[in-house]
Amino acid sequence: MENILCEFPYKNNSHIALVTLNRPKVLNALSTDLMHELVDCFLKLDTNPEVRVIILTGSDKAFAAGADIAQMVSATPIDQINDQRFRTWEMLKLITKPIIAAVNGFALGGGCELAMSCDLIIAGEDAKFSQPEIKIGTIPGAGGTQRLTRAIGKSKAMMMVLTGEMIDAKTAYEWGLVAKVVPSITLMQETFELALKISERAPVAIRLAKEAVNKSFEMTLKDGMDFERRNFYLTFASLDQKEGMQAFLEKRSPSYKGN
Ligand code: HXC
Repeated sequence: MENILCEFPYKNNSHIALVTLNRPKVLNALSTDLMHELVDCFLKLDTNPEVRVIILTGSDKAFAAGADIAQMVSATPIDQINDQRFRTWEMLKLITKPIIAAVNGFALGGGCELAMSCDLIIAGEDAKFSQPEIKIGTIPGAGGTQRLTRAIGKSKAMMMVLTGEMIDAKTAYEWGLVAKVVPSITLMQETFELALKISERAPVAIRLAKEAVNKSFEMTLKDGMDFERRNFYLTFASLDQKEGMQAFLEKRSPSYKGN
């Protein structure tokens, strides 16, 4: 792979994978090739039963500064359709394992949308988020008007999408876009510790919980509650649920096997 790095096991942990966007000269601009490699890598990690959590990161300067402008400047709408760019983005939704975005530096345009496509975002205190497409004569195309609005509400989303201005990590935290802000230098360590915690939980329950939370964006409250209840019932088909509750009653740590 030319545009990303995939490390598994990460830090000798056999349940955690690290994927790093790696086009430093263009601040990890998300070319079509990069997106194909990324989705391909995620799908492989998702089907590996050993992998329980995936971390996605960029560099200190940029998580990603957006889709590759050089690749888009002369494009026609038909070029965009034939590019299959959005089909690749859609495939991110197929990943069943938790993906944590560890964001340092710029997460702009498609970079912010990619971070929002992950399950949660941890930001270094120097991180900057924006949907700057309006400044280059276009609008967000991979969730910047939808996921962002759901995350931070209409007024703030309008402000970001209509001005293209950046917000800092502290603001992103206060507005609910990111789960946690940490010193930039400790971002990877803190993200690893979070990944470790999640990887120690029952994998089947983690998968069903992720699925249920994501459904909340697509369903009415009633349908979402029904979906949640069914996933709740389903956890009782797993041996890990028996192990988890038994371990609690026996006052010991559970040992989850992912079945
Ligand atoms: C292609 C990019 C790029 C991008 C940066 N570069 N962002 N190339 N696509 N999105 C390149 C620059 O051209 C430059 O190349 C090198 O990376 C370093 O960038 P500089 O601008 O010199 O760095 P700096 O002055 O520090 O400014 C950083 C920046 C700025 C604020 C992040 O680069 C910037 O505004 N980038 C564009 C951000 C943007 O508009 N993103 C939205 C894209 S549209 P050279 O060769 O000169 O060294 C989008 C739509 C998504 O994302 C639709 C869904 C898929």
